[in-house]
Amino acid sequence: MSIELTRFRSDQLDEAVLLSQAVGWPHRREDWELNTGISVGVAAVADGRLVGTAFMTPFGETCAAINLVIVDAAWRGRGLGRRLTAAALDLAGDRECRLVATEDGLPLYEQLGFVAGQAVRQHQGIGRAPQVPPTEHVTWAGDDGWRICAGLDLAAFAADRRDLFEALSGVARFAVLRQDGETAGFAVLRPFGRGWVIGPVVARTDAQARDLIGFVLRESQGHFLRLDTTADTGLSDWLEAHGLTHAGGGVAMRRGGHRPDHRPPHRPPGGDLRSFALVSQALG
Ligand SMILES: CC(C)(COP(=O)(O)OP(=O)(O)OC[C@H]1O[C@@H](n2cnc3c(N)ncnc32)[C@H](O)[C@@H]1OP(=O)(O)O)[C@@H](O)C(=O)NCCC(=O)NCCS
Repeated sequence: MSIELTRFRSDQLDEAVLLSQAVGWPHRREDWELNTGISVGVAAVADGRLVGTAFMTPFGETCAAINLVIVDAAWRGRGLGRRLTAAALDLAGDRECRLVATEDGLPLYEQLGFVAGQAVRQHQGIGRAPQVPPTEHVTWAGDDGWRICAGLDLAAFAADRRDLFEALSGVARFAVLRQDGETAGFAVLRPFGRGWVIGPVVARTDAQARDLIGFVLRESQGHFLRLDTTADTGLSDWLEAHGLTHAGGGVAMRRGGHRPDHRPPHRPPGGDLRSFALVSQALG
């Protein structure tokens, strides 16, 4: 039976949700909608049925995420994953491409020129708020707060994710940390999968990141929470101590572009803005 690759259409969303459920991913239809609303995708169709997907999410003109690469188990090992990923890479043009690889995807992405960077650590569970008194510097942002957060994210992520932030503003709450009258960091809380996701989290120091996450933990007690961080943030032990246990993860990979993937081991105190938590494994 031949397989046709076409542009993904929104009327294929229900089948796409079934594909991700079959590989054990928690995405609800709303989670697919958020992703596909800011992405272009490729669908593999066999006999009128969706059997594979791959998406490219542009972050401005210079960067993109490749995500939701899935092949129905019955169709694996025949080159379809490679065809779908190659088609998504074509959609990215000259952009640097980033993704988080699962164990299944890693060999394929290495063959396509992606280079492995940091390990991504998925933490989840019923969060416990820190024992220390809450800092008054963290509050929920107003309706327009996402715009300033998108600016901070640009500095931390080194790519323009304003479209993503605008989409998040419809479903998420933004916690902001104020310092000297300015917004100095933020954490986003939104519904996803089985509960809620905390991410992205952007701050200058570990202590600021913990203050932001601590605030969100306090505000969402009793909820199932998930936070994806990279190994270099050193947050894992703190997350474990606050009820979010390590539950797998992946490997951050990049292809193209010229930015070094490794950060300097010693950052100046109060130094650069950096990401302490991903939006999701799909969107970095
Ligand atoms: C990852 C996935 C999309 C690969 O799809 P696929 O159609 O089987 O991939 P292909 O047949 O195109 O294989 C591409 C290459 O990767 C290799 N490969 C694929 N899966 C592999 C595995 N589990 N272990 C080792 N190598 C693997 C293949 O050997 C092939 O290399 P070759 O051409 O030199 O033989 C599929 O396994 C899948 O949907 N997994 C579940 C969802 C997932 O993890 N997606 C990745 C998200 S980052």
